[in-house]
Amino acid sequence: KPPIVVRDFAILLGKKPFQLISELMEMGIFASMNQAIEEANAKQIAERHGFTLDIRHRGDDKPEPKKKAKAPREDDPALMEERPPVVCVLGHVDHGKTSLLDQIRNAHVVSGEAGGITQHVGAYQVERKGKKITFLDTPGHAAFSKIRERGANVTDIAILVVAADDGFMPQTDEALKFARNANVEIIVAINKMDAKGANIDRVKQQMQERDLMPEDWGGTTLCTPVSALEGTNINELLELVLLQAEVSELKANPKAVAEGVIVESQVEQGRGPTATVIVQKGTLKVGDALVCGPHYCKVRAMMDEHGKPVKSAPPSTPVRIMGWSGTPVSGAVCTVAKNEKAAKAEAEENAQALKARAAAKPAVTTGATDLDSL
Ligand code: GTP
Ligand code: MG
Repeated sequence: KPPIVVRDFAILLGKKPFQLISELMEMGIFASMNQAIEEANAKQIAERHGFTLDIRHRGDDKPEPKKKAKAPREDDPALMEERPPVVCVLGHVDHGKTSLLDQIRNAHVVSGEAGGITQHVGAYQVERKGKKITFLDTPGHAAFSKIRERGANVTDIAILVVAADDGFMPQTDEALKFARNANVEIIVAINKMDAKGANIDRVKQQMQERDLMPEDWGGTTLCTPVSALEGTNINELLELVLLQAEVSELKANPKAVAEGVIVESQVEQGRGPTATVIVQKGTLKVGDALVCGPHYCKVRAMMDEHGKPVKSAPPSTPVRIMGWSGTPVSGAVCTVAKNEKAAKAEAEENAQALKARAAAKPAVTTGATDLDSL
């Protein structure tokens, strides 16, 4: 660290050197103009004058040539790779969320190749033009709010479904508020374009009123009319999702220590507790040991939505995982540990911490937010 010379320090404080010298004298310090003073004293004086002391060499602002190569950080931009968007569908009751999800799944999930029945795993991937899109297939706010409540943010894009014959309704607005709070990108699917009384322009008008100016009206919100009933414009909608994903530059480091979020969990007969996880960073592999709160898991097997075994799951991939010690809650984050032993120890520690907390504050609430009421 450079010395703090009285003359220079006085200038920085906007004082004459002698004023500083007399102040120092009052503190019992006798220094001349060209003498250096102690950092602690300088700090005291600086604070008295409303400054904070920040000592650096001149030119410290310039990046110094690196002497030693540092270990690469996990979030180093150079290690980031494109990842598929994670999408959820929100909207008013009966506006067609389930129909739309079914349509997307049926039209684009390559079924049959697994030779199994497509199962409900809380999330699935579809492919369009060689690019993957991950859908959370729990329509409505329920899963979404649970996940958000725990602080995890798995969703990148929300498709807001608005029936063309009905327009924006109270729950549409709630969903919109919700998506905005969660800071996710919004794409509007104007559904039921086939229905009698469908009025696409009216919906666009309502979008405009809500600061969701449609792109074709000169705004930035992507939207398209669709019919979930007839399967019209589903591809267009998926392309808008890919377009938005590209604009958002969604990335993750596939080589980081793997981490994911639980989107669904259950106890299955003959399988014990299973959980569907969406990988957020790193690549999850069979054989990994996971910790999720008070539970741990030696990943014995992973499956995709077709029940097909998966050996490794890169970012944004949903996988059903077997081998849990208990049932993790949706929204919880799980992380890869060094090995099973470490995972178990960590989980036990978490369990004890949870117990201690529960005992200390028996009347504590669940941390409910206004988001829960949606
Ligand atoms: P909730 O889960 O109850 O909130 O409803 P939802 O938003 O999932 O709507 P759902 O997909 O169940 O559809 C509600 C009704 O609208 C059903 O009778 C569908 O057949 C009908 N519907 C959905 N999409 C379309 C569409 O594109 N056109 C027409 N004409 N009807 C549709
Ligand atoms: Mg539904």
